[in-house]
Amino acid sequence: MNVNYLCPVCGQKLKISEHSYKCRDGHSFDISKKGYVNLLTTKGRNPVKSGDNKEMIRARSAFLDLGLYKPLAQKIGQLSNSLTREIKEPVIIDSGCGEGYYSCIYSELNERALIFGIDISKHGIDHAASRARSHTPPLQNIRFAAASAFSLPFREGCADIVISCFAPVSNDEYARVLKKGGYLIIASPTARHLFGLKSVLYDKPYENEPNVYSLNKFSLEDTLTLEYEGELNSNVEIMALFTMTPYYYKTPAEAVDRLKTYDSLKTEIGFEIRIYKKL
Ligand SMILES: C[S@@+](CC[C@H](N)C(=O)[O-])C[C@H]1O[C@@H](n2cnc3c(N)ncnc32)[C@H](O)[C@@H]1O
Ligand SMILES: [Zn+2]
Repeated sequence: MNVNYLCPVCGQKLKISEHSYKCRDGHSFDISKKGYVNLLTTKGRNPVKSGDNKEMIRARSAFLDLGLYKPLAQKIGQLSNSLTREIKEPVIIDSGCGEGYYSCIYSELNERALIFGIDISKHGIDHAASRARSHTPPLQNIRFAAASAFSLPFREGCADIVISCFAPVSNDEYARVLKKGGYLIIASPTARHLFGLKSVLYDKPYENEPNVYSLNKFSLEDTLTLEYEGELNSNVEIMALFTMTPYYYKTPAEAVDRLKTYDSLKTEIGFEIRIYKKL
């Protein structure tokens, strides 16, 4: 399992030298105290402002730690395991890994694999690296880098699986880094996902629109649906869920005030998991 990050400036291999990754041309990227590397270049954007901000990451983390989405993480982890059972040391990229909750579960469930979590949010990656560090027992098979899903810092054909869970999808980049016959796993919300929460917030809640991907470098192999009822047992838990959803940014104040009066909430939870194979 010999997978190096690639230099985001010149595309050559990065090798670890003391506390940084360096390429042969001398481009250097420090490894943070928590163990991750920032491979975002400043070209055309401000990496500090990219992706989820600190508040979004904190809210997502508080909610995910309640365990309500654990069945999804476990399902994807088990799928990755069985899709790579013939491979001695599979390489799995968790693209748009956020604050690392899922990546750590994939790592626990796939001890043979090397998991690379990437996200454009430096705050997310910082949190993900802390999560992996503080995990008991320590996770040896996981690495985190701040990078974009549309410019992955990996050589072509190095990965067995790319996972994109509620995150942006890149047909070209995922096809480039995957081996021929490698798998892309995409998780997205079903029509009724969080309908119970939306019913409190809106007079006429709409069902979620289906996610449409144009993936002409892949064939769709299978689609699984995971649906269950979620129960939140305090207003703190309800607000943790609400704060990490897009509704947090577009809900009128009086609806938020209404939600603040709830001490418990039941809601549909639903995920669609699509498994694609690289052509
Ligand atoms: C809804 S969150 C999902 C995070 C995580 N997979 C989860 O399910 O908890 C979407 C994530 O995509 C990241 N993101 C947005 N644009 C991105 C890009 N171009 N490349 C990589 N990550 C990106 C955001 O920073 C955020 O962490
Ligand atoms: Zn370089």
